[in-house]
Order: sequence, then structure tokens, then C-alpha cells
Amino acid sequence: MGNTVNIFGFAGSLRKQSYNKAILRVAASLNLPDITVETFDLEGIPPFNQDLENQPPDRVREFKSKIKAADAILIATPEYNYSIPGVLKNALDWASRPHGDNSLEGKPVGIMGASIGMLATSRAQYHLRQCFVWLNMYPLNRPEVMVPVAQEKVDQDGNITDAKTKEKIAELVMALANWSKKLGS
Ligand code: FNR
Repeated sequence: MGNTVNIFGFAGSLRKQSYNKAILRVAASLNLPDITVETFDLEGIPPFNQDLENQPPDRVREFKSKIKAADAILIATPEYNYSIPGVLKNALDWASRPHGDNSLEGKPVGIMGASIGMLATSRAQYHLRQCFVWLNMYPLNRPEVMVPVAQEKVDQDGNITDAKTKEKIAELVMALANWSKKLGS
């Protein structure tokens, strides 16, 4: 790894006007020194089928190779029924297989989430942290970025306007880059 930390981010929502895609766009547009943030849309990742895990679809191959090339991972998760959306879990399942080729192995990971509710994806984020145990990822503990009532923090185009939210996302991205350097990933 050179001096630059390359972060690969994705959001657990396929919705065009997704608040989680919006917070991920903030991360990607920060232009911080020595940090890149590339994003990926989970659209096109089919439901996981173990019969295909040794010959995965092209979109899954692309996803896995971008994960492998990254120094750190950034996930923006919505909260669905007090947990992470199936779309996100499904993508993590593909990325972790087949056995012996877990692309997420040993990757530092930062998480954030936006919700229309007051508890702001906190329950989903703790479920997501549980997945990291078997995936053998290294989650950043803090800052925890949980964006409540996201519908009040975007403009007409769905972009985040709230300064405090942008500040917290920048803090998270910088902390993730430092975490990645500390781990030597
Ligand atoms: C939700 N939503 C939701 N919000 C929350 O804070 N806690 C929850 O448990 C749930 N559960 C839930 C289930 C399902 C199936 C849907 C579709 C929605 C609302 C959720 O926060 C809202 O739809 C967000 O806008 C989803 O994130 P994106 O798509 O904007 O990124």
C-alpha cells in the first residue's frame, strides 16, 4: 500500500432516491488528501445461489474484485425491520463465497446509516457488526454515524444538505483511513 488509502463503498438500498446512497455520495465527494472513495451500486447482484458460487455472475465478479483491490470498505446501511436489508446481506453473502475465497477477509470496515426514523439505523448497524465476526472484517468502532429523519436533511435532488451530517461522514472516512493504516491493510 502506498500513502493513499483506497476505500470501496456501497449502500444497502437499490432505491434511486435512497438516503443511504446520498450519504455515500457525500463520502465519495469529500476529496480528502490521500483518500479515494469509489462507490458501487448493488443493482444487478442477483439472489445468492450456492450452486453458482464457483462461477458467479459477472456483476458479482466485478463486486468481489473491487473489494479485493480496496484497502478498506465503507457500508451505508438502511434499517429494515430492525435489521439490515436483504439486498445488503445478499451482497455480503456473495462476497464471502466460495469458502476459501472470502473477498472481505481481513478488510477494515466503516459503517454508517440513514433512516426516516429517530433511531437512525442503530439496530441494523449492530446486526451488521455481528456479520463481521465470521466474515473476519475489522470494524471501526467510532465515530458511529447514524442519521435520523434523513428526509429533512436532503434537497429536492436527494443530496444531503445538513452540515453536521456531512461533518460526521468526513470524520468517519478519515478515521477509517487511519484505521486501515494502523492495520497495515
Ligand atoms: C423500513 N424503514 C425502517 N426504518 C427504521 O428506522 N427502522 C426500521 O426497522 C425500518 N423498517 C423498514 C422496513 C422496510 C421493508 C422498509 C421498506 C422500510 C424505513 C426506512 O428507514 C426508509 O424506507 C429509508 O428511506 C430506507 O433507506 P433508503 O432506501 O432511503 O436508503
